Amino acid sequence: MNYLRNIWYVAGWSDEIAPGACLERTFLEESVVLFRTASGAVQALQNRCPHRFAPLSMGTVVGETIQCAYHGLRFDGAGQCRHNPHGDGAIPRAARVKHYPVVERHSAIWIWMGTEEKANADLIPDFGVIDAENNYVGKDYLAVKANYQLETDNIMDLSHIAFLHPDSLGNDVVREAETEVIQDGSTLWSKRQTYRERLPPALEAHYGSPPGTWWDRWFDVRWDAPAAMLLWVGSLPAGTPRTDQSKQIPFVHLFTPETDITTHYWFATSYPRSMGPRYEDRAKRDVAFLRAPFEAEDLPMLQAQQMSMAGAEFWDLKPVLLAGDAAAVRARRLLDKLIKAEQQADQAAKAGT
Ligand code: FES
Ligand SMILES: [Fe+2]
Repeated sequence: MNYLRNIWYVAGWSDEIAPGACLERTFLEESVVLFRTASGAVQALQNRCPHRFAPLSMGTVVGETIQCAYHGLRFDGAGQCRHNPHGDGAIPRAARVKHYPVVERHSAIWIWMGTEEKANADLIPDFGVIDAENNYVGKDYLAVKANYQLETDNIMDLSHIAFLHPDSLGNDVVREAETEVIQDGSTLWSKRQTYRERLPPALEAHYGSPPGTWWDRWFDVRWDAPAAMLLWVGSLPAGTPRTDQSKQIPFVHLFTPETDITTHYWFATSYPRSMGPRYEDRAKRDVAFLRAPFEAEDLPMLQAQQMSMAGAEFWDLKPVLLAGDAAAVRARRLLDKLIKAEQQADQAAKAGT
């Protein structure tokens, strides 16, 4: 499987790893141990001790190191063995494991799966809307049994909410929305604007909209490689012109491939703290409201798509393209191009050495 490697992937929410805790996760088919040391830093290492290949995630965090559960070697965050409890205690030269650069930002842990020297924290897309200092953040996680690019299709083409989520999120008007795709460098926007729609009763009730109100609603999704999306949803009473000041709510969708056919899915929403403390609970309730259709409707569909594809490559199946596909297809092509460019650069570098 081809993955883009020189890019930041989400490895978890920051609060998933308490000080002194460790956690195994697989990213891009590589098992990684994440741990938070005594000083509070999150570290990521290949999850395999170089002695007898025990998973380091079975071990314990000791100060700034993780101690292998089998024979007690300790490794620091750089992957260097710092303690050997056997013989004269000398550290064998080969006693080191692969280290992955990690950054904590926007309530999340970001991991770099590519060449370490290229890891630059400035390349993390801006998800300041879920910075906990200034926002009440509601966040959650789901494990998806499907390829991560099927998830990109799902978010970039929200016409599906008319069909898959008619009781919670969508209706027929969404299908008829005006759509627009904008590319800004390697960032894409998929925009969808509806006119004169009635929200499903469950959504009206959740947001306290008087039953039967007519709305104009928009869904603007920003995409950055490999699969990091920020969706802004706003609504105005039908016929009201939208301005830069129009209120909108952010929804964050972050996908990291676990394998070719399984995906980690972190999602979140937020309200600025300046809106007052009651929005803390509101953000949590909003994310719980979303989890229901994601879990009961999107996940089974994605899993069924993956099984239906039976191991074939997406483009080899010659997918029929529809009007609403433009943004999702653009994202796939852009990602393919980035992967190809990375592989060519790697080959050129190898040939040159
Ligand atoms: S397997 Fe880790 S110390 Fe032996
Ligand atoms: Fe959905």
